[in-house]
Parts: sequence; C-alpha cells; structure tokens
Amino acid sequence: MALMIGVPREIFPGEKRVATVPEVVEKLIKLGFTVAVESGAGEAANSDDESYRAAGATIIEGAAKLWAASDIVFKVREPGADEVELMHAGQTLIGFIWPAQHPELMTQLAAKKVTVLAIDALPRMLSRAQKMDALTSQAGVAGYRAVIEAANAFGRFFNGQITAAGKVLPAKVFIAGAGVAGLAAIGTASGLGAIVRANDTRAEVADQVVSLGGEFVKVDYEEEGGGGGGYAKVMSEGFLQAQREMYAKQAKEVDIIITTALIPGKPAPKLITAEMVKSMKPGSVIVDMAAERGGNCELTEPGQTVVKHGVTIVGYTDLNSRLAKQSSTLYGTNLFRVAEELCKTKDGNINVNMEDDAIRGLTVIKNGEVTWPAPAPKLPVTPPAAKPAAPVAKAKGGHGQSSEPASATSAAIRLAVAALVFWFVGAYAPAAFLGHFTVFVLACFVGYMVVWNVKPALHTPLMSVTNAISSIIAIGALVQIAPPGEVRLDDWIRWLAVGGIVLTSINMFGGFAVTQRMLAMFRK
Ligand code: NAI
Repeated sequence: MALMIGVPREIFPGEKRVATVPEVVEKLIKLGFTVAVESGAGEAANSDDESYRAAGATIIEGAAKLWAASDIVFKVREPGADEVELMHAGQTLIGFIWPAQHPELMTQLAAKKVTVLAIDALPRMLSRAQKMDALTSQAGVAGYRAVIEAANAFGRFFNGQITAAGKVLPAKVFIAGAGVAGLAAIGTASGLGAIVRANDTRAEVADQVVSLGGEFVKVDYEEEGGGGGGYAKVMSEGFLQAQREMYAKQAKEVDIIITTALIPGKPAPKLITAEMVKSMKPGSVIVDMAAERGGNCELTEPGQTVVKHGVTIVGYTDLNSRLAKQSSTLYGTNLFRVAEELCKTKDGNINVNMEDDAIRGLTVIKNGEVTWPAPAPKLPVTPPAAKPAAPVAKAKGGHGQSSEPASATSAAIRLAVAALVFWFVGAYAPAAFLGHFTVFVLACFVGYMVVWNVKPALHTPLMSVTNAISSIIAIGALVQIAPPGEVRLDDWIRWLAVGGIVLTSINMFGGFAVTQRMLAMFRK
C-alpha cells in the first residue's frame, strides 16, 4: 500500500517556507506516494491550497489531523513540543533537526518510536549526496538575498555608469568567507556590476572566487585554514591579527561588507570590529549572515537592521524566508531526492537502508533508537583524501609495519600474474590479436588514470564527455558508407552504416551538450 507524505504548516515564528511545493508534489505522486498538505501550509511561499490540489495533493484542515494521517512527514524546521506530541510510532520525519544542538528533542522523538532523517546530517562530501544537500541550496539562496538586502539599504548603484548627469563609480563589495553563501553573494554582486573582493581562511576557494568574478584578497600570513571536508578550522592568534589588519584596510575602502564566516560547531568568528565600522564611509552597509550565531560583526543585532556610525548593519536571520518560494522549491526538491533514494522501487514504500552511506548519515533515529552520530562514510571520498592512508598506517607502529609488506607481496603477486598472462598471449595469440590486445590494455590504463584523477563531483560530466568521445566509432561507419565500387540501393552494409552514423551522432552531440550543461552548473 502506498504511504502518505504529510506536509504541515511551519509553526516557527516568521518561518515562511514550506517543505514541498506543488511542482514537487507531482513528482512525489509519480514515485507512488500519496501527498497531504495542511490547509494554508504554502500560503506564505506563494503556493495556495488550490495549486496543491491541482497537483494531486489532498488538503487537510488542522495540524492534528495531518500528523495523524501521515506515514512520512516533510518539515523545514525541527518539530516543536506540540508537534512531537502529535507523532505516532512507526512514523518517519524528514527535515532540519540539528541533533547536536537539540539533545532534548532527540530524546522526545526517540521515546515516540519514530524514525527521523535529519537533512542537516547528510554526509555532504559524498558526490551522490549533492542533490539532497539542503544546507547548500538554502545557503545559496540566503547569499543571494544578502546582496539584495545590501542593495536595498545602499543609496547608490552597484554598477558603474556614464550618464549625461555624470560618471558613477561602481560600488565596492567585500565578502568575508567564501563558502556556499559567500560564493552565491560574490556571483550576485558581480552580476549586478559591483567590484567584488573576498577573503577566506581556506586558500583552496581562491579559484572559485575568481571564476565568479571576484578578486581573492590574501591575508599576509602563511597558515592553511582547511579543517577537512571543505570546512574551516580555528586559526592561530597570529593569523587572526594579520587578518584583522587586512580587514581594517578593506573596511576603509569598500562600500558594502557581507560576512558569512563560519566554523561548524563554534561561535561565529568576530571579524569586523566596532573600530572598522567607524572607519567605513557614511552610507556603507554591512550584512552579517552569521547573526544567528552571534555575528561576524561586533555591532550586529540579530534579527534587526540598525544604523551605527552612519553604517547600516543588517542582521536578518530569516534570509531564506525572505525568498520563501525559491527556498521552498529548492528545499522541496532536496526532500524529493531523499524520497527517491528511500523508494528505489517507485511503489510508494520506503526502505531506510542503513547500508547506504547517504541514508545512514541522514538517519539520526531509527524506530526509536538513536543512531546519531553516524560513522564516517566508508567510501573514499576524493582521491587526495585516500592518499594519506599509507602514512597513517605507518604511524600506527606495529600494525603499519605488518600491513606494508603484506600489500607489497600482494602487489608483486598481481604483477607476476599479469606478466604471465602477457607472456601467454604474446607466445600463442595471432599477431593481429596481439596488436588489438595492446591497444585495449593501454586504453584501460589511460581510462583508469583519467577517472581516478578527476574529483567525484565531476564524474557525471566526465562520463558524458567520454561518451561523446567514444563515438569515434562513427569513423568505422563512415568507412563503410563509402566502400569502393558502385553505389547500390540494396547494399545493406551501406544502410547499416547510415543508421550507425545517425545513432552515434546522437551519442556524440548529446554527450557534449550534457557536458556543457553540467559544467555550466559549476561555473554558475
Ligand atoms: P560554509 O561553511 O559553506 O562557509 C563558511 C565559510 O567561512 C567557509 O568557507 C570558511 O572557510 C569561512 N571562514 C571560517 N572562518 C573564517 C575566518 N576567520 N575568516 C574568513 N573566512 C572564514 O557556510 P555557509 O553555508 O556558506 O553559511 C555561511 C553563514 O551564513 C553561516 O553562518 C550560516 O549560519 C549563515 N546563514 C544565514 C542565513 C540567514 O538567514 N541569516 C541563512 C543561511 C545561512
């Protein structure tokens, strides 16, 4: 029997997002689920009851009835105490939970014997998980909105203009922190025509800043800021001092500062001091995206817009709700992708498969048993991450020493077997076969090296471009289409060659087109 997905109205004050939108309801129904939405749930995100009904959902009046009828509940914010009360054993909840910050909620949910998938616990380093990554989709929207808020509070154009009334210089924007939100802000501000500069403690993001039209400003101090998995680490006092000096210089020069600096599990680093605010030009704007975690600017007031020393400081903590339709559509799509992973059979039933790395990471409670935190995913995430394994094994002393000769022996055995196979083929196979065999072995080697040296996130575009290139078989068909001798209509080899060229062209041009589209997603 098909399970019912229920979408209640969000109860957190000021929350305007909804966990699914009518466009996504249709897709969920195609997966075999039935969908129920609480009356008015999508109103603040421009999706009324009628549009959900038209997409195939049932509208239910009141939260109590909705929660009682649902087998699976899609939510944005973590449930409040009243909502937990409405849950029943065997129900599955999917939404933001933040288990580390809400131990009490975790205990209450476990007592209800429910299953909970926390979208914030997704192992983001798995390339397969990207489509489910709600933290990224929401931070991207918030970064965009931060620039729009800055533009709204700023008294000038962003782009430079030459008008009859005089020359207008472009605005200068400085972005502190070039993570997901920061990169979205860089792209938006440079798209509006501003001169954009950015800084981050992780040097690896410099190229991304440049590719989005920004200039990466380095701190004059040698220290790597990556803490692993694409997150930052807490920096040394020496670095922070050098960084403050650089930020103080930028504050005097720029018109707008957008701060997005975050170290997971830590309070927001204080990057913009009261002195720096004082030194900014009157009419300048600061948008502090980290306001909810204490702010990156000393003078930020969370949830408020204040003017201090002539500078407008925007501390909104609800940037996603300020673009509720966009945020809900992207979030709804993330949850749909989770539903797809849970329901591979497309029959409206789910399998919370704890052997699957992505699902294991998401599942924080299974049938009342707390399963958070999940162990790190088993798969090697990126080739560089896999490389340090050897030195680590060595550092373990006894274990490392015993495993190294073992792997060396097995490598030697494999090499000997391969040599034997080659000798056998060389000695007994016909000469023509030997030529093809050598090309085949070289092709395997080149293919292996190419795939292994590409980041997992780029495997899909790589596959499509390889697909296109492999269409070199078109040459074979071209040779067949024009063999020597007269052209005859009943020459079936010729017609097969025509068919071959048509099919391989679809593969070739389709492959290049898909690659272009995929790469465009990375370029923004
Ligand atoms: P992220 O983890 O992707 O990026 C944070 C970046 O800050 C990282 O690149 C990190 O290297 C950098 N960073 C850390 N310490 C730094 C330092 N001392 N100096 C310079 N850079 C430093 O995080 P994401 O998703 O981009 O979120 C950014 C912020 O926006 C977070 O504080 C998040 O809570 C907030 N946020 C706020 C919303 C709102 O409505 N106000 C909505 C969504 C996100």
